[in-house]
Amino acid sequence: MPRPLEAPDRLRVSVVGTGYLGTTHAVSMAQLGHDVVAMDIEQEKIAMLSECELPFFEPGLAELLRKCVEAGRLRFTTSYDDVSEADIHFVCVGTPQLHGSFNADLRLVETAFTELARRVTRPTVIVGKSTVPAGTARRMADAVRRQAADGQVEVAWNPEFLREGHAVEDALRPDRLIFGVRSPRAERLLRAVYRPIIEGGCPVMVTDYATAELVKVSANTFLAMKISFINAMAQICEATGAAVLPLAEALGYDDRIGRRFLSPGLGFGGGCLPKDVRALYACATDLGLDDVATFIRQIDVINLSRRDRTLTLGRELLGGSYARKRVCVLGAAFKPNTDDVRDSPALAVAVAAHREGAQVVMHDPVAMNSARRIHPEIEYADTVVTAAREVDLVMLLTDWTDFEDMDPALLSGVVRSRNVLDGRNVLTPERWRSAGWTYRA
Ligand code: UDX
Repeated sequence: MPRPLEAPDRLRVSVVGTGYLGTTHAVSMAQLGHDVVAMDIEQEKIAMLSECELPFFEPGLAELLRKCVEAGRLRFTTSYDDVSEADIHFVCVGTPQLHGSFNADLRLVETAFTELARRVTRPTVIVGKSTVPAGTARRMADAVRRQAADGQVEVAWNPEFLREGHAVEDALRPDRLIFGVRSPRAERLLRAVYRPIIEGGCPVMVTDYATAELVKVSANTFLAMKISFINAMAQICEATGAAVLPLAEALGYDDRIGRRFLSPGLGFGGGCLPKDVRALYACATDLGLDDVATFIRQIDVINLSRRDRTLTLGRELLGGSYARKRVCVLGAAFKPNTDDVRDSPALAVAVAAHREGAQVVMHDPVAMNSARRIHPEIEYADTVVTAAREVDLVMLLTDWTDFEDMDPALLSGVVRSRNVLDGRNVLTPERWRSAGWTYRA
């Protein structure tokens, strides 16, 4: 953990938007020693956070939240007026994919910048952390200039690279800090606010707005490209009789390539990768860069095709149809260690199997409530064993370690047919086959 700042170096920090990013950022700013006020228009969220309860699951964050609130360094509000006095403001609101388009919806970002600019009473910097298309910071700078007195408010962009499930570590020990700024004053303020992290050796890059904005979407698109690449290779392996897992391992030994994000399977989901790939595709299309757009588009296309392929493998294991079959789905979250089901490949496959007539019983260690809220038509079970009772097929779709360690002998006694589909390539096939299971991956 970076050493917290002493009193004279503490700043008054405001954070607008208390979703996943904003809450983690507010807590880490308070953990660094700053006096933080976090604001959101959703009263329910603010009420929960004020009681030190997280509206989502994230390992280690609840403890830090409580510690910072009890130390008096972090409080929550629903009013912009309570944040107007801060030395520096961070905008952490969501930028979801627009309905019927691949572009990001920037309305919340625009509102946050203009509402803050209207209220600030002294020179300050409003820092965008939300993931946005290139050109947004420049537009926000123009919008802010129209709202605030001359030179009072500057805009900076400082993208965030948090991974769900590792958010605390990523926020307090980031790989790099990117400051998209237009003036030395904004850079100085950002260096002051992140001082304990910078002193810990974190590299800082100072860039123009557009570069800072692009770092985030291009990092996520690159990661997505690695996953889609190995999934494309998985298809070639299936067709040629090669084995994709040893192939990924062999590629990974080349340190120019690296083994991470080369795990083949059901592919990526979540609130970031799919949306960012699509936003970059939309950006390339708008710029008339057709070849670039086609290249990026295929990352998404290959990723979505993995869901169909998984569904097909399941259908084959069931003898040709999901109709009237009972199917156990292990995993609802888009990846392990989160309760986030946004664009979850596991949930998409479960819902598709249900639509094809299967009776789907789902289990996830933490994401069942989030899944139930949007898909009440699916059955939910509290344990793996109850989910697997009397089923014709077990599908492992999110790679929680609990599932990797499952004992096939234990499940043999509860299922109707011993068919297992390993959508994440994490089970040991020999172990399942020797326990009498038909194993596909
Ligand atoms: C991502 C980025 O990693 C993070 O830097 C950014 O700030 C937000 O987006 P996150 O969405 O939390 O973080 O998930 P990540 O751990 O990157 O995984 C993304 C998806 O890729 C998951 O659905 C995961 O299951 C999948 N994945 C990952 C694979 O399918 N194969 C792999 O080899 C690795």
